Amino acid sequence: MDMENVATWFTIAMFLITLVAIKIARGKTSSHILSTRSRPPSVNAIALLYSLFRKGFGLPFVHDLYTRFGSVFTINLFGANITLLVGPNISAHLFQGLESEISIGNLNDLTIPMFGQEVLYGVDTAIRSEQINFMVDALKLSQLRSFIDPMFEEVEAYFVKWGQDGMVDLKHELDQLLMFISSRCLLGYELHAMHEEIYSLFHELEKGVNIVSFFFPYFPTPTNRRRDKAHARLKEIFSTIVRSRRSLCSSQAQEDVLQRLIDSKYKDGRSVTEEEISGMMIALTFAAKRTSAHTSIWTGARLLSNTESLMAALKEQMHIISKYQNQIGYDAFLEMDTLHRCIKETLRMHTPAPVLFRKAHETFRVQTKEGKEYDIPGGHNVVIPTALNHKLPCIYKDPEAYDPDRFALGREEDKVGGKYSFTSFGGGRHFCPGMSFAYLQIKVIWSHLLRNFESKIISPFPKTDWRNLGGEPKGKLMISYKRRQLTC
Ligand code: HEM
Repeated sequence: MDMENVATWFTIAMFLITLVAIKIARGKTSSHILSTRSRPPSVNAIALLYSLFRKGFGLPFVHDLYTRFGSVFTINLFGANITLLVGPNISAHLFQGLESEISIGNLNDLTIPMFGQEVLYGVDTAIRSEQINFMVDALKLSQLRSFIDPMFEEVEAYFVKWGQDGMVDLKHELDQLLMFISSRCLLGYELHAMHEEIYSLFHELEKGVNIVSFFFPYFPTPTNRRRDKAHARLKEIFSTIVRSRRSLCSSQAQEDVLQRLIDSKYKDGRSVTEEEISGMMIALTFAAKRTSAHTSIWTGARLLSNTESLMAALKEQMHIISKYQNQIGYDAFLEMDTLHRCIKETLRMHTPAPVLFRKAHETFRVQTKEGKEYDIPGGHNVVIPTALNHKLPCIYKDPEAYDPDRFALGREEDKVGGKYSFTSFGGGRHFCPGMSFAYLQIKVIWSHLLRNFESKIISPFPKTDWRNLGGEPKGKLMISYKRRQLTC
């Protein structure tokens, strides 16, 4: 057994020991649920183990708990209370509550060794809010149009390397391509020549997100050690670039995301430090690349296995070609409504952030759709299981079916289901500032693939791998392709 497996089994063993210890310490009987009048039902150790062994880790496990305990329940894990709120009708406080009432807290501790002690979850809430605002400003919608040419160039340059026909692992290809786009659009021109190194450094960082590091972010597994080395090297690279840019006169300043971060100032007038800029660049690239690669790959798996949706997307591309010929620019991408819905439906079924976490600082009350009221005590960790919410049949008809038209005018199941029915990009205070950027880059990739290649999926439809917490496609995703020129 290699070290990673040892670490995974160590985590599971710790988890089981803790559950048993909690059970013994509390001297519970065989009852599965403990409830007080307004506290959520508490899932005890035996009930939890029962679901874990029956369903395994991941969405099926959470789904099983939901069917057994209802839409609000508390799990006690390693002494911490984790309360799950299932369904959009009880999500509002998590998204809208003030930071003083409910915040991201220290639940994202696993990101500190990835992004650094100087930014985001390594600093206090006030500084974190300012840093998030710097990133949001750097990505403002008005600047989105300026990303289209670089995205286009990167996509064309990448696929020109494919032959007349062949077989590729789409997972590997799109992961690489997304790194090229992120480097070009987010990291700055200096890094373009270092693509290979940057790609492998981010790859090591991404591997740092897993079940072991979630519970033990500093446990010295080989993965965590490689993650720390990758972080140190990225910090060194970014610091050198920031220093060099700061030494240039203003007329030589660049117009890119990195420059906007370099020019940011805190409310007290302090400039951002090299370490802070490095941390924000790593965080931004991580947030952008990993989620978008995940979505592009699943979009491929879904589109290439669903003839009806594939035909609809191709028909739309033909219409775009007839309208814009070779001048496919920003406005043409805004018109790709069918492709947009195919991506959105992929996000519903394979959301890259399957759960959202918060820490409640004050008690708050929720009411289930059946009318039951519960008080969620301050101190509880609160979880919205987005992946499960997206599969609720009371919101999404036939939720296991890939049906992009559920978001079309006249149906709009996400809107009918109420605010927070679709939360792949979060909601409220921490709504993802990169949503439009993400849709744009995935559309640029898939419209290019549809117009220039006839592709077929040749490996079995991928299972979901929950070990890395994001629900990636398991194994390779092999496709065969043949060049073509789609015409109208
Ligand atoms: C398919 C692609 C993407 C998905 C599914 C996604 C999802 C999310 C989600 C769910 C959140 C909220 C987390 C929470 O509430 O705890 C979030 C926040 C964030 N995302 Fe994205 N994201 C994507 C792409 C991007 C891109 C392309 C960027 C930047 C270029 C980006 C930058 C951010 C940042 C900076 C935040 C933090 C916002 C805050 O805390 O206020 N994301 N994203």
